[in-house]
Amino acid sequence: MIQSQLEESVAYLKNKGFDKPEIGIVLGTGLGKLVDKIEDPVDAHYNHIPFFPLATVEFHSGKLVYGSISDKKVVVMQGRFHLYEGYDFLDITYPIRVMHMLGIKKLFISNAAGAINLDFKKGDMMLIEDHINLQGGSPLAFKNVGQFGERFADMSEPYDVDMRSKLMSIAKANDISVKTGVYASVVGPQLETKAEYRMLKILGADAVGMSTVPEVIVANHLSLPVVAVSVLTDECDPNDLKPVDIGEIIAIAEKTEPKMVKLFQELIKQL
Ligand code: HPA
Repeated sequence: MIQSQLEESVAYLKNKGFDKPEIGIVLGTGLGKLVDKIEDPVDAHYNHIPFFPLATVEFHSGKLVYGSISDKKVVVMQGRFHLYEGYDFLDITYPIRVMHMLGIKKLFISNAAGAINLDFKKGDMMLIEDHINLQGGSPLAFKNVGQFGERFADMSEPYDVDMRSKLMSIAKANDISVKTGVYASVVGPQLETKAEYRMLKILGADAVGMSTVPEVIVANHLSLPVVAVSVLTDECDPNDLKPVDIGEIIAIAEKTEPKMVKLFQELIKQL
């Protein structure tokens, strides 16, 4: 990775009016509506930002949106890059480094995930407390990583304790049920077999998805406090596994979305 490329991406965005955002937000599958809450939005399509990963066809709608929510300057990623689309670890985490260089002080992440913990149900939300990286690589495994931060990044508490506790209080105050647990990341795009769901449970995962962990590793590399919430879109019961319906996964994420928007909006207010 090259510092001057990041600088060029940032210069383009600053020139478009992305002025000192305080909070960066990554919106997951079916969870894009928070952007409707942004006042005075300015957007930049990923395809137009210098050195951003080149978007695939189905990904043409991806963009960064800047503006304010509750008087806080935010920059929101509407759509993220996934390993399963053929991007590498540096590609998918490049936007995190760009948002950090723009000046964000906190990072919020959302995703859609499968429920491994069968006490959790479709449509539940889960605050991620810890994770298991099963993607077979790292966004920090590159030659000059030392120029960007500590190679052996500490991961003893990857999810910010203070934001987690604020988010749980907000959930309680608004009567929104939020579970807590461990998120395991896989490459995908195929869903898991019954044997894999059994394995994930034995490993200690409560949820499984195809994103988030690389972004969180880079946030930690940058000492950027991060909070992440999964919307559980399917129940991964190895003893009663139904064929996956991606349409249903997206529909459940969209149905849960207003609660997610509320949580993030309130958390923005409190920071
Ligand atoms: N597995 C992996 N990723 C997912 C799932 C799942 O069951 N549901 C939503 N994203």
